[in-house]
Amino acid sequence: MRLITSTDEVSQITTAWREERQRIVLVPTMGWFHEGHLALMRMAGKLGTRTVVSLFVNPIQFGPKEDLAAYPRDLERDRLLAEKEGVDVLFAPAVGEMFGKHFQTRVSLSLISQGLCGANRPGHFDGVATIVSKLFHLTCPHTAVFGEKDLQQLALLRQMVIDLNFAIEIVGHPIVRESDGLAMSSRNSYLTEDERQDALCLYKAIGSAKQMVQNACTVAIPVLIDEAKRIIHAHAGCTVEYVHVVDRHTLAPCRIIDQNSVLALAVKVHGKVRLIDNALLLEG
Ligand code: PAF
Repeated sequence: MRLITSTDEVSQITTAWREERQRIVLVPTMGWFHEGHLALMRMAGKLGTRTVVSLFVNPIQFGPKEDLAAYPRDLERDRLLAEKEGVDVLFAPAVGEMFGKHFQTRVSLSLISQGLCGANRPGHFDGVATIVSKLFHLTCPHTAVFGEKDLQQLALLRQMVIDLNFAIEIVGHPIVRESDGLAMSSRNSYLTEDERQDALCLYKAIGSAKQMVQNACTVAIPVLIDEAKRIIHAHAGCTVEYVHVVDRHTLAPCRIIDQNSVLALAVKVHGKVRLIDNALLLEG
């Protein structure tokens, strides 16, 4: 595996691969790899002949009060993990290399970035769309793989490739969970053992909503949402940022529950760690 930090170099190597008719799969990440990232890398290995993993803690997707400085980083640890997964290139540029001195462009999606996480994180999705556009240009992938935990990010990037004519297939990977159900996230490392127990409220709220849908022929969406909120608030130190039932593709609020209805939630755990999770309500 090659560790590349230069934008020119990653561009050259991926352009040469294109000429050799390799199928390039990109896995964009912010590092601090866990099993969820490794699963994306494995999927990438199956979808193409060359895997590029980008590792970049993107400053323009963090708000001024968010955890940019505290975000966990360990390049050497991540390098070894990516190498073990058969990744061909780990692209880990410095901030200055990606943005230069006079960077002023933003890729911005309107409707789809407004609700859910976008409502509380102004500018976040512009930062994501901008960096992912740059990564697409730099690494020329045929396919890019993203985790489904970031439901809104995935829907937004699918819309972006349509709107901006990127000839790139966007593939979602199912959420990877710990054995007790907690969705894997680099931010889980901020939690103490007790806080981690409370963080299980997201998974419990999802489980209860799915159960309610399974048990009843019809269930009113507001009732489902209220019950999810009740479960979350029953856990010490957990506050709801949002609980919504939305269509997995458009993110529009659902009026009835169908095959595409997703319960999506964001919870602040002990005032410091913001976790998100989601699940299809009619999934087995
Ligand atoms: O999901 C993430 O880790 C980030 O939002 C991404 C897609 C790597 C862009 O910085």
